[in-house]
Parts: sequence; structure tokens; C-alpha cells
Amino acid sequence: MEKVLDVRELKVALRRDVHRSETEILKGVEFSIGKKESLALVGESGSGKTLTAMTVMGLLPENMSVKKGEVLLCGRDILKMSQQELRDVRGVKAGMIFQEPSSYLNPVFTAGNQIFEAIKDTSLSVKEKKKRCIDVLKDVGFTEDIYYRYPHQLSGGQQQRVMIAIALVNNPSLLIADEPTTALDVTTAAGIIELLKILMERYGLSLLFITHDISLVSNFVDKIAVMYAGRIVEITDAKMTMDMPLHPYTEKLIACLPERYNSGEKIKTIEGSVPDFHNLPSGCPFHPRCPYVMEICRKSEPPVVKKYGILVRCFKYGMSMET
Ligand SMILES: Nc1ncnc2c1ncn2[C@@H]1O[C@H](COP(=O)(O)OP(=O)(O)OP(=O)(O)O)[C@@H](O)[C@H]1O
Ligand SMILES: [Mg+2]
Repeated sequence: MEKVLDVRELKVALRRDVHRSETEILKGVEFSIGKKESLALVGESGSGKTLTAMTVMGLLPENMSVKKGEVLLCGRDILKMSQQELRDVRGVKAGMIFQEPSSYLNPVFTAGNQIFEAIKDTSLSVKEKKKRCIDVLKDVGFTEDIYYRYPHQLSGGQQQRVMIAIALVNNPSLLIADEPTTALDVTTAAGIIELLKILMERYGLSLLFITHDISLVSNFVDKIAVMYAGRIVEITDAKMTMDMPLHPYTEKLIACLPERYNSGEKIKTIEGSVPDFHNLPSGCPFHPRCPYVMEICRKSEPPVVKKYGILVRCFKYGMSMET
């Protein structure tokens, strides 16, 4: 299958000015997304999901740097591109939407203006650009009048749809959605997910969907990659993950889902705390929270092994690739 995004052994470090020391945050992230395929990157707060997305967009913060790896977007390594090349690629090959649309929309320009300004094709006339804006507004379920509205005149769900219009106006191959529904109520969130499904079909899009809520994506994406402390610990088909989670962390994420326990019970969360990158546990970073912990888990980091066709990082499944 043709790969739209191929992330290989990506390592990203944070520079800490005081000590001039570096802390590795992304520790060899690997996944790929095929044409028209969708992958959800799932994990608790701080696991490195947004950083992964930002690296793909060539938008790492100043204090972060790539130490290793390749990020092939439509076959070209974005890590080798100049700032100008990145600007040309951004939006055209990959578009991105975020959790808080209000903080990305400019309050003094209309929705239409902001979509118009995002168009990168300089060969289009003003009239053609305007037509493209109206078309993309219709694609996200609006009528033409939204073009002239200011962000404060729009609801959260409508603002997110304007962000989707901006992300899609250049017809990208990949859409990255970073917790796009977290700030919305349940019904509006469901509407955004439905819209994304339709747009994937219409635009032939590939999707990287980031969320901490595995239940949100289990019936919607093709693949799920579970992230823990800067590594992908399990990656396979979404249905497989839900039916037969292999990694103890994935198992816990699923066991904590509201539909898995009776109403009236307290909301469950995974015991223990999310690890601190500056002070990671030895061995497998999940071992202090793991019910299956063995001696080796405290000493060594588990390699990736393949079990039932699933790639997983856990000593429960052995120590090498052959199974
Ligand atoms: N600009 C930054 N400066 C310093 N540390 C950062 C910066 N951005 C992210 N980090 C750290 O890197 C780690 C991963 O952050 P990231 O934002 O990728 O997490 P996330 O999985 O997206 O979490 P969330 O679900 O809360 O959005 C966190 O420990 C975070 O504190
Ligand atoms: Mg994030």
C-alpha cells in the first residue's frame, strides 16, 4: 500500500537551558499511514502525541530538536527540508486541526477571509479562490453566509468546522486532528467525527487522529497506535486492539472505559501516575503501574515483538521477533 506518512525511529529531545542537558521525549516512534487509511494515536496526557504531530508538520517548538529518524510525507523526508520547503508543503500535503479552534482563528478576520488566506495555489485568481472557499465551506456542511461571519459569531463546533475547511482548502493528502473534539459537547463531537468520515471519502484523505480516549476512535479508525512515555507500545488494527489488547497499558485503557463498568461506580482511571520524562522508571517505563510486572521489566526496556501479527513492546510476549 502506498504510504502517505511513514515515521521511522523518530527521536526528539528537549533542551533544558539551565543544565544544558537534553531529555529525550520521543524515543524512536514508528508508524505509517497508507492512502485513505486512518490511524489513531492514543495515550494519556504527556505521552508525546502532540509532539509527534508537530514534528510531522515541521512545527517543533524552539527548545525541541530531532535527534534521529525520518518523517516521510508523501515520500519526502520533511526533516531534511528547508524552512521555505516546509512552508510550501504545510497545508498542501498535510493539514492540521487542534483542540481549541478559538485560539487558532484570528478574531478580527471573517471565517471566509481566513480560509482564503490559507490558499497556497498562487495561479488561482481572486474569483477562483473565493469559489474554492465557498466549495470547502459547503463540504464541511455550511452555507455560503458563514464566509462573512467572525469567529465570535460561531459556536465551538462551527469554529472547528471552519478550522477543518482551512486545513482542507489546499486538498492535502493527510489530515492531522489533535484532540479535535475534546473541547466540544458529546453531540457536537459526534457530528465532527461523522463529518471527518465523510471528508476522508470525498477528499481521499489519510487521517492521523490524536486522542486520549480510545473509545472515541475504536469504531472509526483503521489502526490504533498506543503511546506511552514517548514510545508506541502497541500498534495494530483497531478492532484487534479492542478485542484483544496485548500490552498491559492498552488493557488498562480499555478496562477504564465507562461502558465497561456499571453506572454508579466511580469513574476508573489507571492507578499510578503518568511518568515524568526527566525521571523515568528503569526498564519498561510502565512497570511501576503494571499488574504483570516481572523482574526483567525493572531492568531492561522491552523490544518490539510480533505476536498474532500485532507489534507490541512487552516482555510478556517474549524478547525477540520470532513467534
Ligand atoms: N514546548 C515544550 N517545552 C517543554 N516541554 C514540552 C514542550 N512541549 C511538550 N513538552 C513535554 O513533552 C511531553 C510530551 O508532550 P505532548 O504535548 O506531546 O503530550 P501529549 O501526549 O500531546 O499530551 P496531552 O494529551 O496532554 O495533549 C510532555 O512531558 C510535555 O511536558
Ligand atoms: Mg497533546
